[in-house]
Amino acid sequence: MQTVHEVDAIQRRCESLRREGKTIGLVPTMGAFHEGHLSLMRSARIEDDVVVVSIFVNPLQFGRGEDFDNYPRDLQGDLAQAERVGVDLVFTPSAEAIYPKGFQTYVDVTGLTEGLCGASRPGHFRGVTTVVTKLFNLIRPHRAYFGQKDYQQSVTVRRLVADLNMDIEIVLLPTVREADGLAMSSRNVRLTPEERRAAPVLYASLRLVEERVRAGERSAKDILDAMRATIEIEPLARIDYVVLCDPETLQPIDWIEGPVLSALAVRFGDTRLIDNLPITLS
Ligand code: PAJ
Repeated sequence: MQTVHEVDAIQRRCESLRREGKTIGLVPTMGAFHEGHLSLMRSARIEDDVVVVSIFVNPLQFGRGEDFDNYPRDLQGDLAQAERVGVDLVFTPSAEAIYPKGFQTYVDVTGLTEGLCGASRPGHFRGVTTVVTKLFNLIRPHRAYFGQKDYQQSVTVRRLVADLNMDIEIVLLPTVREADGLAMSSRNVRLTPEERRAAPVLYASLRLVEERVRAGERSAKDILDAMRATIEIEPLARIDYVVLCDPETLQPIDWIEGPVLSALAVRFGDTRLIDNLPITLS
């Protein structure tokens, strides 16, 4: 496994691999790996000739007062784990290399980024789509791997790739969870033991939506009330949003008639966790 720090070097290396006829799979990350990240790398390892992982805590996607400075970082641990799953190249650029002095070009996906996390984190998705576009331009992957855990991010990246005619297949993989249902997240290490004990209530509330929908309940308002009540049993949980929306447009749904996505963001102390569950009516 090779670690590349410079933007010119990764561009040259990937260009020469492409010329050799190799397919390139990219897993963009902010590091502090857990099984969710590793599951994306393992899929890429199966499907692509060369697996590239980027590790970059992207300042542009963090708002003022958010946790950029405290975001978990563990480069040595990450490199060891990436090597174990058979990654070929790890790209670890500096912020100065990605956003050099004078940088003033941004990529914005509109509509899809306005609700859910976009409403409580203004500028977040602009930061994501700008850095993802830059990574795609530097590495020019054939496939790029994203987790369903960040559902809004994944549909936004799909939109970006379609709208800007990027010849990249976006592969979306299921959310990897802890045994008690908590979605794996780099931020979970920031939870206190009490918060960690309370956090599975998020998945429990999503499962409750699924049960209710399967039992024939169709009113989003009634289901959302039940979801809130479930989460609020935990005094440490502060709801940012709970929503039932169309899985493609992310527009809120009042009456459930087809596929629906239940999604939430909840704070425990300074840690903001997100989760979601797509539900199909069978
Ligand atoms: P990060 O939070 O490090 O996540 C990197 C990738 O891992 C994302 O595609 C995310 O959806 C996926 N992932 C995270 N937790 C997961 C889980 N429990 N199960 C499955 N997949 C999971 O998302 C980002 O970084 C950044 O926004 C990035 C796309 C790298 C742009 O900076």
